[in-house]
Amino acid sequence: MLEKIKELREELEQISASAKQEVEELRIKYISKKGLISQLFADFKNVEADQKKAVGQAINELKEFALNKINELKESFEAAENAGGQTDLTMPAEPLRVGSRHPLSIVRNEIIDIFARLGFTVAEGPEIEDDWHVFSALNFPPEHPARDMQDTFFIEKDPDVLLRTHTSSVQVRVMEKTQPPIRAIFPGRVFRNEAISARAHCIFHQVEGLYVDENVSFADLKQTLLYFSRELFGEKTEIRLRPSYFPFTEPSAEMDVSCSICGGKGCNVCKYTGWLEILGCGMVDPNVLELCGIDSKKYSGFAFGMGIERITMLKYGIKDIRHFFENDVRFLRQFESTI
Ligand code: DAH
Repeated sequence: MLEKIKELREELEQISASAKQEVEELRIKYISKKGLISQLFADFKNVEADQKKAVGQAINELKEFALNKINELKESFEAAENAGGQTDLTMPAEPLRVGSRHPLSIVRNEIIDIFARLGFTVAEGPEIEDDWHVFSALNFPPEHPARDMQDTFFIEKDPDVLLRTHTSSVQVRVMEKTQPPIRAIFPGRVFRNEAISARAHCIFHQVEGLYVDENVSFADLKQTLLYFSRELFGEKTEIRLRPSYFPFTEPSAEMDVSCSICGGKGCNVCKYTGWLEILGCGMVDPNVLELCGIDSKKYSGFAFGMGIERITMLKYGIKDIRHFFENDVRFLRQFESTI
């Protein structure tokens, strides 16, 4: 009997299975009710009394060993099956977050697209500028407050090196280099020495526009801005020009668009006026043309400048300009679908 147990033990040590079904066959062969080990229990009654203890112990150990061995085999097949289940190739893939464009970039690109349809090209100029390009060539009188330290960031102690306070400086650079016809816009970052609040920041972005050719009139300016406003804010948009003053344009105006939120009826965004101010504009002052080397008897032109933050805030109903610079992903992710 002990011999038989030893043989079975050796056999069991060797068993293996290449499919779950084979494990079941092994189970039946060894440990089912009619299996080999159950038969040993049945034969136990014939064992001599003095051997019963040793044989009983050996059978129990054998049974234990067989159970463990077969369970192990079964579990290895079940684990393989589960792993297979996890790699279901028909499952949709995890979505990939590819990031999004910054809202200011979205609006800047939209503005560039609209003017491109009217034949405007894009140019850029330096952020660190000199007094000539930011002020003098643009007809700023020497005592103009914008030249003051309080409004302008100067670099080091040289009053001739400063951070541009507007993108109008690029007008000068372009006119100095090119003769008309000129039809271009200049997007870029500008800097002003201002306290940061919900409505103002010391760093922001503008888009400047310039059109210089023979016989350019105020009517051309108006039509261009009307087309632009309707493309950006919707075809029902109306514009309104109010007389204003800029050193580099004559006449000068500020332009309002009808409030796209209330349709001009009056709401808290337009402060119940029905209008929103979005840009400054005018006919390029002949002095400026001359200072930049363009014959003001032959050519005339118009110019305009707008703040990208302001337009983006109006377009998306953003109440605080600081959101643009904090890069909080909860804010930025709202623009994900617009890629
Ligand atoms: N540079 C002006 C500003 O920063 C905006 C502006 C007004 C630009 C009138 C122009 C213009 O070209 O004609 O406030």
